Order: sequence, then structure tokens, then C-alpha cells
Amino acid sequence: MSAARAMFGAVQRRAFSASARDLSKVTVLGAAGGIGQPLSLLLKLNPRVTELALYDIRGGPGVAADISHVNTKSTVKGYDPTPTGLAQALKGADVVLIPAGVPRKPGMTRDDLFNTNASIVRDLAKACAESAPDANLLIIANPVNSTVPICAEVYKARGVYNPKRLFGVTTLDVVRASRFVSEIKGTDPKDEKITVVGGHSGVTIVPLFSQSSHPDLSANADLVNRVQFGGDEVVKAKDGAGSATLSMAMAGARMAESVLRAAQGEKGVVEPAFVDSPLYKDQGIDFFASKIELGPNGVEKIHPIGEVDANEQKLVEACLADLKKNIEKGVSFVASNP
Ligand code: NAD
Ligand code: LMR
Repeated sequence: MSAARAMFGAVQRRAFSASARDLSKVTVLGAAGGIGQPLSLLLKLNPRVTELALYDIRGGPGVAADISHVNTKSTVKGYDPTPTGLAQALKGADVVLIPAGVPRKPGMTRDDLFNTNASIVRDLAKACAESAPDANLLIIANPVNSTVPICAEVYKARGVYNPKRLFGVTTLDVVRASRFVSEIKGTDPKDEKITVVGGHSGVTIVPLFSQSSHPDLSANADLVNRVQFGGDEVVKAKDGAGSATLSMAMAGARMAESVLRAAQGEKGVVEPAFVDSPLYKDQGIDFFASKIELGPNGVEKIHPIGEVDANEQKLVEACLADLKKNIEKGVSFVASNP
């Protein structure tokens, strides 16, 4: 082969692999819901998404028909729960987001959703393990502290568990924290990078203001409480009509975008997420949310929580106690309801 032909071949291969890598199928399970619809719309507006698959037990094709008229390049297809619908929606997916499940009503905790959502997430995880075992799985359905361990157990039982590809979506907690701080300090929320660690419910949500540019805020108990119970604020205001959907859609779309940016080769992409984490395994806590550096294989590096002050140390301790129970609940659910 001539040197020129060999070089042409190499250039062609590079061009092919770059474009193949940039093709991204994203699947939303629960796409016709309060979160699913705006999330799917935001994904349709994302040029990194080339194929959008929208599945729901009812209404997937309708939402897909509507969103497919938005004039961006990606293809959109809706799927119903026909015998092959879910498998087709999942086949070839790079990212799967799961907002399927019931939301809270006033007076409920996220754990009160467990009885309904645990089996929904378990069954969807089975389908993902079967049809898209290598996809990045982004769990939105609550209680996240338990639904993520449920997915891990389902994958383990099928021999396809890759802890680097499983994420509990906690982005909304940092979105809220930055917004609430900016309201107090009169700053632009985009400049307020607040670390939030732990899990995604009540006291398991631990904002670390001592690490921000306003360390004084760690003593602001009202602000800490607002970040921990921001979800309740929305549940109360919606008065029985559900929980956060629009801000969650934004947060879910941001997390998906970050996963895709890293998958497509961008370095230094960091998001918080609830993942299989070494940080507190010595205390029997296998999952923990902290800052995660993302890479082409999913989780690239799990950041430690860093220095915390005395107020925050107490919050971390309360978090760990609850988190342990939430995780164990998910694990034992799958053990007794495989
Ligand atoms: P919703 O009731 O409006 O929508 C849920 C959708 O899931 C519905 O369209 C329903 O048909 C669908 N669904 C139910 N079972 C399904 C199944 N087996 N397969 C596919 N689809 C199924 O609820 P929502 O407001 O969109 O909230 C969804 C979930 O997200 C809730 O559990 C809520 O608590 C959670 N949530 C999480 C966060 C977070 O930060 N992680 C934020 C907000 C809400
Ligand atoms: C949120 O944080 O808004 C969600 O987890 C929904 C809820 O139940 O509060």
C-alpha cells in the first residue's frame, strides 16, 4: 500500500471514529411524566443527542410526535409497553434516564414512595441490564438513596454490574444550593459553586458551605435546612399535584449533558452524583454522593468530601446514619423480591 493511501486510510478511520463516538442515543423511561416531558424537550435541544427514545407506560409516542417537530437534527421515537417496546427503546442507548415513578404529595417523605417505586425501578433496571447493560444509567426516581442500590443489585444478579455507569441524580441539590446562596448574597448563581454531598433526601443532603466563597453560611441553619428540604417547598406549593418537575428536568438535562461531554472526550467534567463509592464503605455504606469526575467510561474519579467544619461534621454524621438504612432497604428489597 502506498504511503499516501495508508495516510488517507488513517485519516478516514480517525474521522469515522470521531463521528461514531459523537453519535449518542439517549433513552428516557417515564418520558410522558411531569419530569419526563420537559426533560425530553431539553434533550431534543441538545446537539450532542442524535437519537432520542421516549418510553412510558402511557403516552410515549404522543410526547415523541410533539417533540419531533422541534427543528433540531436528532431523531425522536416514542415507545409503548408492547412486548418489544421497552427493549427497542433501550437498544444501543448510551445514556438512559429513569424519571419513571410516583412523586410525593404533601406530608410524605421520599421514603414513603418506596413501596410503589422500588418495583417500578427494579423492573426497568432488569430491562436495562438486558438491552443496554453498558449504558450510563441515570436514576431520578425516588427514593434515590434506595433506587440506586436496587439497580446495582439487579445488575449484579445478571453479572453486568459496572459501578462506573450507575448514577443517582443529585444535581438538583447543587442547583438549589447555588440559587439559594445567590439570593442571600445578591450574586449570580452561576458563580456560586456549592458542594453538596451525602444522598438525596432530607438530612442525607449535606451542603458544604465552608468550602464555598461564603464559609460563614455553614452557620446559617435556615439556609442549610432550605437546601435539605427544598423538595418539600415545591411539594407543598404544588399542593397535591406532585413535586419538582421543571427544575428537575433542567438538572437531569445538565447531568446527561455532562455525561455526554465526558463520553465525547472532554476532560475535567465534574458533577455531583450518588454512586458506588469507597468513601464510607468501611462503615458499611456502599453508595455516597460527592463530586464525581466523569470520563469516557463513566465515573473517572470520586472526590473525597474534603475539609468540613464542626457544623458540617454533625450534618455528615446524621446523613450517614440515615443513608445506611436507605441503602440497606433497597438491597434487601431485591433480595426478597428478585
Ligand atoms: P409523574 O407521575 O408526573 O411522572 C411519572 C411518569 O412515569 C408517568 O408518566 C408514568 O406513566 C411513568 N411510569 C410509571 N411507571 C412506569 C413504568 N413502569 N415504566 C415507564 N414509565 C412509567 O412524576 P414526576 O413528577 O415526573 O416524578 C417522577 C419521579 O422523579 C418521582 O419518583 C419523583 O419523586 C422523582 N424526582 C426525583 C428528583 C431528584 O432530584 N432525583 C427530583 C424530582 C422528582
Ligand atoms: C426534589 O428534590 O425536588 C425531588 O426529590 C422530589 C421530592 O420529592 O422532593
